[in-house]
Amino acid sequence: MAQHTARHRIGILGAGNIFGRYAEGLRTFPELDVIRVADVDTARAERAASAYAIPAWGGPDELLADDAVEIVINITPPAFHAKTVIAALEAGKHVYVEKPLAATVEEAREVLAAAERSGKLLGSAPDTFLGSAVQTARHAIDTGLIGEPVGATAFVRSSRSETWHPDPRAFYGPGGGPVLDMGPYYLAALVNCLGPVRQVSAATRIGARTRKVTSPERVVDEITVEVPTHASAVLTFASGAIGTTLMSFDVWDTELPRMEIYGTEGTLSLPNPNGFDGDVRVKRHHDDDWEVLAPVTALFGAVNTPEQHRRGLGVHDLAGALHGGPHRADARFAFHTLEVLTAFETAQRENLVVAIDSSCERPQPRTAR
Ligand SMILES: NC(=O)c1ccc[n+]([C@@H]2O[C@H](COP(=O)([O-])OP(=O)(O)OC[C@H]3O[C@@H](n4cnc5c(N)ncnc54)[C@H](O)[C@@H]3O)[C@@H](O)[C@H]2O)c1
Repeated sequence: MAQHTARHRIGILGAGNIFGRYAEGLRTFPELDVIRVADVDTARAERAASAYAIPAWGGPDELLADDAVEIVINITPPAFHAKTVIAALEAGKHVYVEKPLAATVEEAREVLAAAERSGKLLGSAPDTFLGSAVQTARHAIDTGLIGEPVGATAFVRSSRSETWHPDPRAFYGPGGGPVLDMGPYYLAALVNCLGPVRQVSAATRIGARTRKVTSPERVVDEITVEVPTHASAVLTFASGAIGTTLMSFDVWDTELPRMEIYGTEGTLSLPNPNGFDGDVRVKRHHDDDWEVLAPVTALFGAVNTPEQHRRGLGVHDLAGALHGGPHRADARFAFHTLEVLTAFETAQRENLVVAIDSSCERPQPRTAR
């Protein structure tokens, strides 16, 4: 990882379900100090501060007014991202926001404009593409291991949020659904490996109109589904590669692989891109068997354990950019993936092949072990 030893003072906005995974993940980066936590529900902020020994807590306004806070990590629900990111940028903070960058492309454009005006850095999840698995796949492609990439597949299956999240409504409302909730991990991995997407065709639908919530600490018993829960799309990359995606909260069980990339000389098989690490396997046309590739970067955490769900690498990436390093998980990259993912519904609604306006460079690879 890039070495930057200066300490960065961080305030976290939102003390909900994913808060603990940030608090724990950030502890692995000694240069990143969480000094304040804020939530509209200040009692939640207080509990979070006490659980993780964070010195200050309170409401969002107190966070923005705290001159000691240099970077705000925004982990509010997607519907609040645009408003709260813009407020933090205008308060002079660098911001790292959870995915999706905003609930709509229009809002995301306003967010990008606010970042531009402020001169502050804006980073966005997902950051899992910075992990060893996607970086190893990227290295394999860049060194020609599978020849020229021709196509890729990506399959999102149900994350079963109604069985574990106390309030899973955001998963089935604006900014949610399999496409915007889980799709960013897969799109970030694909765009990192294959470059930007040029056009999208898709079909989407809602599976069940209502879903029962069974999580032990649930605050609601039933959800009304507002967004498509089953989507199939074909993505044409600017490179000419063709991606086939199935993103569904209606598929609970499947034997389809998560992600594969097919080249003129072989196939790469990737693990779940909602984790940082895991085996990347290759089988070239002349090979008898699959080979596991050696990871090109140090692992973020132990494979197949909750460590893969800790967060913080994207914030570390933003902090590195403050010291002149590359900003890989930046908002323009996130904007492109959001535009591609929101095009699924446009394609369905308007029966169109949707041209994607935005583009982005592939982020610089990470190869430091
Ligand atoms: N939960 C997960 O497994 C998970 C995983 C990866 C990413 N994420 C992303 O993290 C974000 C948060 O998800 P979550 O599951 O923790 O949500 P959550 O609903 O559990 O928690 C959100 C928190 O934000 C607070 N909040 C709402 N509006 C606010 C505002 N304007 N200012 C300050 N606080 C506000 C709420 O009171 C709540 O405590 C989402 O963008 C989601 O996509 C969640």
